[in-house]
Amino acid sequence: MPGRIPDQFIDDLLARIDIVDVIQERVQLKKAGRDWTARCPFHDERSPSFTVSPNKQFYHCFGCGAHGSAIGFLMNYDRLEFPDAVEELANRAGLKVPYEGGQAAPREDSSELYELLDAATGYYRRQLAASTTALDYFQRRGLDEAIIARFRLGYAPDAWDGLKNALGTSAQRIALLDKVGMFSSGERGSKYDRFRDRVMFPILDRRGRTIAFGGRILTPPKAKSSADDSIAASTQEASADERKGEGPKYLNSPETPLFHKGRELFGLWQVRETHAKLPRLIVVEGYMDVISLHQAGVTQAVATLGTATTRDHAEILFRQCSDVFFCFDGDRAGRQAAWRALESVLPRMRDGRQALFLFLPDGEDPDSLVRKEGLAGFEQRLKDATPLSEFLFGDLAKDVNLATLDGKARLAERARPLLAQIPDGAFRDLMFEELERRSGAKALPAKAASVDAGKGERASMRPPQRSLVRAAITLLVQQPGLASVIEPPWHFASLRQRGVALLVELIELSRARPEITTGALLEHFADRSEIDALQSVAASQFPGGVEEARSEFIDAVRQLERQTRQQRIDDLQAQFGEGGLNENDKDELRGLLAARNQERR
Ligand code: UTP
Ligand code: MN
Repeated sequence: MPGRIPDQFIDDLLARIDIVDVIQERVQLKKAGRDWTARCPFHDERSPSFTVSPNKQFYHCFGCGAHGSAIGFLMNYDRLEFPDAVEELANRAGLKVPYEGGQAAPREDSSELYELLDAATGYYRRQLAASTTALDYFQRRGLDEAIIARFRLGYAPDAWDGLKNALGTSAQRIALLDKVGMFSSGERGSKYDRFRDRVMFPILDRRGRTIAFGGRILTPPKAKSSADDSIAASTQEASADERKGEGPKYLNSPETPLFHKGRELFGLWQVRETHAKLPRLIVVEGYMDVISLHQAGVTQAVATLGTATTRDHAEILFRQCSDVFFCFDGDRAGRQAAWRALESVLPRMRDGRQALFLFLPDGEDPDSLVRKEGLAGFEQRLKDATPLSEFLFGDLAKDVNLATLDGKARLAERARPLLAQIPDGAFRDLMFEELERRSGAKALPAKAASVDAGKGERASMRPPQRSLVRAAITLLVQQPGLASVIEPPWHFASLRQRGVALLVELIELSRARPEITTGALLEHFADRSEIDALQSVAASQFPGGVEEARSEFIDAVRQLERQTRQQRIDDLQAQFGEGGLNENDKDELRGLLAARNQERR
């Protein structure tokens, strides 16, 4: 694991760069009052609704709702992961990113590792050119030269030390090759080539650098098939393996400092090379599926690497584009894999994102299917794909009788915890409405992730004064400097209202970092459930100027303090009614009542 980047560094970094510069290098901005505008780079539009605020260090599109800090912009626009976006900004600010905990970051002098893996790719490619068996293999599988080159496919020769001799020219290089997973260890710690007599599929990162490999044995593919056939096929395969001592059909690099299979997608680099604006992504299960689809013209296919789709995958996928198709075998294993994918995407289903599921006929995979049915056939199947909602409700209702109350209750019971994972928004509401429609049960639970739901506080007994807390949060997020106009103690921290804990957290954070901007403040909440709500209040426009905001904030805090006093009065009076007040309590109550009366006059 790479280490964590400290919050303090993110703050310092965002304080040093200007979001306007960062965006201006990529999008042509026009000055409009205090802000800058442009046609939104994240959706098609004729008139500009994309706004960059230098004060808030925050961008926002009133058309599609995209928004965030400079880091968020790079993640969306350059499609970078968070650490890469931070690295990019740090570079331009001339800062070195510190990583705390974990192992040293892969970025720290990892260039040699990347160079060696790219050299390995080159080595395998040369070996392929020299091997008729391997070239034959690809030819039999229908791959042409162009696609072999595009995916940089290669061949690891049938030797224990082919790669080791070619690239391991010093003890240090051997150690580095070992670090990136290119060797297996013998009994006495001797190192030999991990990949032998296999066709090689380099796994590239988002910058096109090799970070790992998959290697396939050269036996012909077996048709996937219904139970009987696949047992036959696997016994056949096992005996073939034993005969040659070859190990699994596909052998992958282990997890290394550069390679975390739960976060990588095979083919993503090629997809992004082909498309400036991605219309969709199609997730399949195998290396050959990706390559065949690309060759056939379905150039948005990627694969997970012998693992189920993880939540990290889901986030990476949706960061590329809003429509993601998941393609699975139609058999039971395929449906199980699809269900796991569904569970991983639910927490990522922000509004505007769409997940669709495509189940293939038994015995087929995308590779075999696109060869059989061609591009048009495959496209038609994509058109007929099952939307997430249908798959989810259909699967949950599979073995329940919805004609009975019992069945309906069971459906509601199964669906609720799943739907609860969907982030707040229209999609979530629609899913709960759909559940209500199907089960007849009132299904709407408390909202999961809104500004009004601070963490760990109890629900208020009285009607929530939501607008006041919300107003204070909104002002503070837009102008974090306001936190310094009030002085502790904040009695309102004990107010039993939703959002109070969040408000206190925001105040304390903003006071600890007096220079913090909206954009930087939000980065602190990037992993929190409140982030969507905070981003939307950050984007809203406060009508007045700095002075109005200041007096409004002071006023909101004053009212909250008053409500806190009233809450305490109510508590003490209730206790009094039960005869539970001691002398101190009585003094306190008298004092509070006096203060209140004083104020009323
Ligand atoms: P499949 O067994 O479905 O193979 O594995 P495939 O992709 O159709 O391969 P061909 O057509 O026979 O060449 C799907 C994926 O699961 C992983 C690989 O990523 C593979 O592409 N896998 C499979 C392994 O990691 N190891 C294995 O032994 C088998
Ligand atoms: Mn296959």
